[in-house]
Amino acid sequence: MRKKLVVGNWKMNGSLARNQVLLVALNAMVRPGSVDVVVCPPYPYLSQAQALLKGGVISVGAQNLSAFNEGAYTGEVSGAMLRDSGCDWVIVGHSERRSANGEADGVVAAKVQAALDSGLRPILCVGETLEQREGGVAEDVVGSQLDAVVSVVGAVLVSSVVVAYEPVWAIGTGKTATPEQAQAMHAFIRACLVLRGVAAQGVKILYGGSVTAVNAPQLFSKPDIDGALVGGASLVAEGFSAICAAAAAS
Ligand code: PGA
Repeated sequence: MRKKLVVGNWKMNGSLARNQVLLVALNAMVRPGSVDVVVCPPYPYLSQAQALLKGGVISVGAQNLSAFNEGAYTGEVSGAMLRDSGCDWVIVGHSERRSANGEADGVVAAKVQAALDSGLRPILCVGETLEQREGGVAEDVVGSQLDAVVSVVGAVLVSSVVVAYEPVWAIGTGKTATPEQAQAMHAFIRACLVLRGVAAQGVKILYGGSVTAVNAPQLFSKPDIDGALVGGASLVAEGFSAICAAAAAS
């Protein structure tokens, strides 16, 4: 059985003072149990999060990394630097980065490779736009996003990647995919990985897109939904800890 994983993606939110309140509350509310929990603050706050969460059950991740190790890449942050700042995890290929920062499939694949090379666990985001879903090509889009990574990283290493299915139309919109829609795509993702030679029964596939404490229990009841990547609701301790509790109870 795959242990559930809940990841909070803070996006570009927070301040030293606000993070302190949120992290102290999360430390008190998130109980050790049958769920792994990660928070991903913006870069400047990674060390703060690491210090405040030390010794607890919550791990720290970053929201992005460079595809390169070191050198003249102004404004970029490498996987090794993230490890130095206490990160165990990194989100790669979030749709906001694919659309606003022009990260194409090849760049995303190189970043997954860089994360693995640095000893970080990548959380690879995939997902279709509303137009693509309505055009009947959602599976083609997600399949080719996965293919790009498998072809660069190789089937063996992809088995240690976490996949997050995040339909773009559900992110920050309050419009969650139904548990049935999400389960269907998760099953498709697992089948795709199997076809490409990945030991996919052990791969965690998270759902992301307007997950809340209210809709989480139903999503987590589906056999191929192994947890959640949570944006907005991860900024409120009560909501995020309730999602973690729902994962632990499922
Ligand atoms: P949301 O964001 O939960 O606010 O929809 C999810 C994400 O973008 O990872």
